[in-house]
Amino acid sequence: MTDFLALLSRKTTVIDDALDRYLPPADAHPPVINEAVRYSVFAGGKRLRPALTLAAAEAAGCAERRVLPAACAIELIHTYSLIHDDLPAMDNDDLRRGKPTSHRVFGEAVAILAGDALFTLAFELLARCAREEAFAPRQVLQVVEEVAVACGTSGLIGGQVLDVVSTAREVGEAELEFIHRAKTGTLFRAAVRAGALLGGAAPFTLERLTEFAEYFGLAYQITDDLLDVTGNVATTGKPVGSDARNRKHTYVSLLGADAARRRAEQACARALAALESLGSEADFFRYAVQFIATRNF
Ligand code: IPE
Ligand code: IPE
Ligand code: MG
Ligand code: MG
Ligand code: MG
Repeated sequence: MTDFLALLSRKTTVIDDALDRYLPPADAHPPVINEAVRYSVFAGGKRLRPALTLAAAEAAGCAERRVLPAACAIELIHTYSLIHDDLPAMDNDDLRRGKPTSHRVFGEAVAILAGDALFTLAFELLARCAREEAFAPRQVLQVVEEVAVACGTSGLIGGQVLDVVSTAREVGEAELEFIHRAKTGTLFRAAVRAGALLGGAAPFTLERLTEFAEYFGLAYQITDDLLDVTGNVATTGKPVGSDARNRKHTYVSLLGADAARRRAEQACARALAALESLGSEADFFRYAVQFIATRNF
């Protein structure tokens, strides 16, 4: 575990440096918006998704530096999704990454616009991969299309809308799994595939990493559901009990904490199994599974 956190922390430093270079200065005109963008991006965050992008490129034999714009794009999309997820009209949460949420600090209008700005900047960065890192335009276009689909109505937005509207009715486990795969799994999948595709992974490796990412994303959201009940605000940096307050359907509300933990373990086992035929180049992904199985933040 210490190994994984050390590897992640090294990747986080590289990612944070790149994010600082890519984001406009806080005082760039017009006022407030760049400050709000930087506030949420640099409030903290584990940088797990961009780290997976870097690791996927490395697993394919590509220098991680070359996929930094793509990795940062994924983190910007993730941060946008968190800002909007916390809004009063959605989960109405006051704390994120250990700090007051964007709308509490800057007001709702600026928080919405900061999310929009991050989403737009993400696609600007993806396009820059072709210009700055000399990837083939065809490769970059595939990544742009996949990331856009992952963010859309069959992916993250689709999952978020079901998460919100389904509170008015019952849901079964199959639908809840669909929601979790959509709202959280699709971005993990896109993060890993972006790195693998740009890195030039062989089709077999790409397929194995894709399957890994899908189960990893599902396990990640189930453990997030658990942390909403069993977590500690000091380590998670976000409120405990938000899901119950919002009457959200989660693995814990549907199955209870013990069964939710077993479902997370099963998804982790499937994620590891997907990597079985890969060698040591997939070790970062294996350590990542061990991390989420026991994470407290
Ligand atoms: C939180 O994601 C939202 C989910 C999709 C579960 P993270 O737990 O990765 O949040 P940060 O980026 O570390 O703040
Ligand atoms: C969030 O799920 C998923 C996305 C932001 C796409 P949650 O609402 O459970 O995430 P947290 O717990 O607020 O981080
Ligand atoms: Mg939510
Ligand atoms: Mg939330
Ligand atoms: Mg949650």
